[in-house]
Formats: sequence, structure tokens, C-alpha cells
Amino acid sequence: MACHNIVILGTGGTIAGRAATASDNIGYTAAQVGVEQLLAAIPGIAGGGLVLTEQLTQIDSKDMSFAVWVQLAARVNHFLAQPDVQGIVITHGTDTLEESAYFLQAVCEPAKPVVLTCAMRPATSLAPDGPQNLLDAIAVARHPGAKGVVAVCAGTIHGALDVQKVHAYQLDAFSSGDAGPIGYVEEGAVRLLRNWPVAIEGRLPLAIKNIANLASVADWPRVEIVMNYAGADGAVVEALQARGVHGLVVAGTGNGTLHYALEAALLKAQAAGVRVVRATRCLNGRVLPKPGDTLSDSEGLSPVKARVDLILRLLIYGTAVPHAV
Ligand code: SIN
Repeated sequence: MACHNIVILGTGGTIAGRAATASDNIGYTAAQVGVEQLLAAIPGIAGGGLVLTEQLTQIDSKDMSFAVWVQLAARVNHFLAQPDVQGIVITHGTDTLEESAYFLQAVCEPAKPVVLTCAMRPATSLAPDGPQNLLDAIAVARHPGAKGVVAVCAGTIHGALDVQKVHAYQLDAFSSGDAGPIGYVEEGAVRLLRNWPVAIEGRLPLAIKNIANLASVADWPRVEIVMNYAGADGAVVEALQARGVHGLVVAGTGNGTLHYALEAALLKAQAAGVRVVRATRCLNGRVLPKPGDTLSDSEGLSPVKARVDLILRLLIYGTAVPHAV
């Protein structure tokens, strides 16, 4: 069989949302329409190869869980291992898409394209964006040479490391920040600006190919995010420590700066064995490390991705996580 089959895994989201009226783009319920039906809304899609669908789950991505991630990674690895599958498209809610993208890139390190797509308007909208996004995602999955985990939304291709949801309403809701997008999809053609995502070098030495190693999600380390802001103190950190937290990501101000009281609590937690990583709450830029830093930085990852990264490191290494600091 020719190697151009595309598998679409449905997970829910607004792309599969349903509202009572076509003019309602916010009062809908996410994750109602099956992936088969989403595909049926795009006439002539199958041209150029088979498109197979599988409804993996049907959730609003605000409710994303470790269990779904493990299931997703297992299906992605399963289909990628089939020689007749060229690429995978995943329909996903926009809200936690960037976390799933980072997780899949880190765990699967796909040598074929894994394309997450989504919508900001429900399927019942007067002018839904889902069908075009799905069509564009399939074009990317079929593009010769495409590889790695990317997100496709509003005609733009974002890499798993950089993609972030930056708008709560507009159709072009994602940005790749300073890195810029990987490319665009224009009338079904991919225009590349830079390389496809590669293995997350220096972050995780090994993809976790044996998904069974991730299966006991109840035992996953607890990693939480705290934030620096005016009047921040150590109370949240102390409460989380009392609950047995294993790791903390702090979304610092600017270049990862912290209120002295919050910093003191984080250093105390770190000394007690909690892994602490410093990211920035700024949308662009990254924490630039400097001599004398006492808390490691997130190496450019946003707070939510730094959390995923720390969970995976703790899973792989236990508390002996090798750290940048
Ligand atoms: C979700 O993330 O599942 C709901 C919101 C969206 O897809 O835009």
C-alpha cells in the first residue's frame, strides 16, 4: 500500500462543539460532534490517500488528564509504527493544546508528522473555523518531509516547543512567540519558514518509547505552578509542601524575578527536596540564567510546558533529576 494514509484521532474540543444557535460562538458545549462527522463536513478530503478516523476520547481540553495523554501517546506510537501511515492529525481543544503538544513531542519524538488542530468556534457556528483548520492540518500531515509535533490553526504551523494560546476569542489564537511559526498553509500548500521540530535535545535524553512505563498515572509526581505578583508570599508554597508536592514551577516576573518572601519559601522547599524551576510569566522572551542563580530556569519553556517537562523528568529520574542549575 502506498505510504500516504492519514489517521485522525478525535479528542473533543470546540472544533467538536455544539451550540443551540448558529450565531452563538461562546455558549456552546465542547466535545459533542464525532471526528467522523467533522471529516464529513469537508467534501473530497480523501483525495490522495485514505483518511482513517478514531474517536480516542471526547472531552473539553480544560479537563485534559494524564490518563488521556498516555492513551494518546500510545495510539500515536501505534499508528506511527505502521509503514502505510504517513502522518497523524489530532483534533483537540485549544485550551491545553500546547501542553499536549509538548508532551507528545517529548514522549514520542515522532519522525513523521503529528499535527494537532482545533477551532475557536463550534462546529454549529455560522462560519466555523474547524473545517478549514482540519483541512490545513491534513495538508501538513501529507506534506513530504514533515515531521514532529506541530499545531495548525488559522493557516499557521506552530512547533510544539513554542506554541502558546494567546487569545481567548479570535480565530488566530496561537503564537510561537519570539521563535515565530514554522510556516503557513495557503490553499493547501505548505510554505515553510524554518525546520520541523526535532527531538527535544538536552531536555530529555530519551523518548519514552515504552508507554507502559507511563501507565500508572496515579503515581505520577505532583508538580504545581505558582506565580509571582505584587504581595506574593510563601503561603501557597508552604501549603503545597504540606500536601507532599514533588515539583514546583514558578512563573516569575520579567526575567524570572521573585518577591523575596516567595523566593525564600521556594529555596526552603528546594532544600527539602522539592524540585523548583523558574519560568517567566511574560508571553515573550525567556528567563536568562546568570551566575549565582539559586533556582534553575525553564530553558525557555513557558510555565505550563515547564511543568510537563518537570513531570517527565521526575518520572524518568525520580528525585535525582539532573538540573540545569
Ligand atoms: C477546549 O479546549 O476543549 C475548549 C475550548 C476550545 O477548544 O477552544
